[in-house]
Order: sequence, then C-alpha cells, then structure tokens
Amino acid sequence: MRLLTAAVTAIALALGAQAAVAAPIEIKFSHVVAESTPKGQMALKFKELVDERLAGKVKVEVFPSSQLFGDGKELEAMLLGDIQLIAPSLSKFQKYTPELQVFDLPFLFKDMDAVERFQQGPEGQGLLSSLESKGLIGLGYLHNGMKQLSASNPLRVPADAAGRKFRIMTSDVLQAQFEAVEAVPLKKPFSEVFTLLQTRAIDGQENTWSNIYSQKFFEVQPYITESNHGVLDYLVVTSTEFWMSLDDDLRVELKKALSDAIAYGNGIADEKANEDKQQIIDSNRSEIITLTDTERQQWVDAMKPVWKQFEKDIGVQLINAAQAANQ
Ligand code: LMR
Repeated sequence: MRLLTAAVTAIALALGAQAAVAAPIEIKFSHVVAESTPKGQMALKFKELVDERLAGKVKVEVFPSSQLFGDGKELEAMLLGDIQLIAPSLSKFQKYTPELQVFDLPFLFKDMDAVERFQQGPEGQGLLSSLESKGLIGLGYLHNGMKQLSASNPLRVPADAAGRKFRIMTSDVLQAQFEAVEAVPLKKPFSEVFTLLQTRAIDGQENTWSNIYSQKFFEVQPYITESNHGVLDYLVVTSTEFWMSLDDDLRVELKKALSDAIAYGNGIADEKANEDKQQIIDSNRSEIITLTDTERQQWVDAMKPVWKQFEKDIGVQLINAAQAANQ
C-alpha cells in the first residue's frame, strides 16, 4: 500500500512539473490610449504575432485605455513585476532619465521624418539604454505624431494662451513651454483630460490628432491650432528583471515580434494622423486654425528659449544632434 501511495505521489509530482514547464509565459501590455491609435494598434499587432509565432509558449494580454494602470502608475507597476510591457510617451520618463527630455523641446523637430532620423541615429539609439541603471530596458521607439494645441478660445498668437490653464504630461520641459507663453500648465493623468476639458476646469491641452480624436477632446474644445510645435512619441520598455529571466532564444523571438509590431505601428501613424484630423474637420465640432508664418514665428520666439533652460540637463550634444536631423 505504501509503495502504491509513493508511486501515485511520484506520478502526480511528475505531471505537476510537466504542467509547470508547459505553462506559457504571460506578458501583460498595459497602455492608456484607445485601441484605434498607433500605440493601440501596435500592441494588438504584437499580440497577434506572438499568438502566431509563439503559441503555447507566450501569452500576451493587452490592457488599453488605462484599464489596468494609468500613466502615473505604469512604470512603477512594471518595476514591481505587475506588468511586463508598456509604451509611455517620452515625456513621462523625466524621473528616470533627464536626456529623454530632448524630445519635449518645443519646435525642435520640423516633422516626423526628422524625429525618425534622430531616433534611428547613434544618439537616438544610445538613449534606448539610458534607463538601464533604473532597471528598465528600452526596446524601441514608437511614433504617434506631432502635437497640436486645443483650447476653448482661438489660439493664434502666444498672448491668446496667457493666463489660460493647459493640461500637460508630467514633464518640466512642457511646464516651461507653457510658462514661456504665460499660460498655467497643470500636470494631469491622460485619463482625466476629457472631464477636465468638458467641465472647463482647464482651458486647453496639447496632443496628437489621434489622441484628440479618439479621446473626443474635439467635442469639447471648439478650437484646434495646427501648431505642430512638438512631438509625442513613445518608448517601448520592459523591466530588466523580466527580460533577463527569459531564455535567450525566446528573448530573440519576442524582440523580433516587437520590432515587427513597432514597424507596423510606425507605418500607420502618419496615415492615422491625417485620417483623424479629417474626421475632426468633418465633424464640424471644432475649428482648425492654420497659423500664418508670422503667427507661428511668434510661438517659436516665445517658446524656444526653453531649450537654454534645459541644455545642462539634456546635454548640448544631444540637442545639436536632434537639430541636425532636420536637414
Ligand atoms: C498623454 O498623456 O497625453 C499621452 O502621453 C497619452 C499617450 O500615451 O499617447
């Protein structure tokens, strides 16, 4: 009888061990935007590719729209091991690395091609590892697009923004940018922006066409100035602890799936921006203001001194390299 019990226990243990080996690795990908946006689409593409290529080995779950964690918590949650992949806007890394603030400098990049050239160049690639000492690994840049200004009043020249409250992401550069036009910047989570605008607790905000459209900001902001004054892009990150816990082969496969998904997201970002801008125009809910060269120059003159303010934190070399990407 004792022999039988021992045999049964051994079989049960062996089966248990087999089940443990067979359990797929779980990757929770948390983000704050809608599924229709470039980031939302990239996350779904990553899931699709992993399902195809690594079925049974890795399971990806995507949590959009701040469902799991909002932008104030996602980096901490990842370091705690609650989630494994995130793609916060580059403006949200200030606490972890000052150099990434280069992306927030107003009127630095003339368009998304320049942003792409800088990101793929030696300095941009070097920044991917700037988070390593904080236990984070940058796996690639993901585009959203250029930012526009939306408000409850028409913004044609900097004086139109003076004294008005604008929601910003958690970035001191963005704070300085709005202070430079004598506006009042308020750091608030993305998930709160619509309500803040709707209730008129704030007057305006800056964001990309895809976010203005998918979050319905245009329904509560009668004016959008096509300022293209800055960039809103993302860094796809994971924690060193999670990434290094994977087998080498699996890590290579996952990196490949991620790179393919990022390429897909980057490939649709421009088209999405144009489509969403058109949807806003067609809705007749918001007037889109096109600046004259003289009006735009006033914004440049007012905001560009912010570069000097952050030159020491970011590094002149990095700013010069970013500027060189415009040529
Ligand atoms: C914002 O907070 O406005 C953006 O970073 C949201 C996002 O992830 O695009």
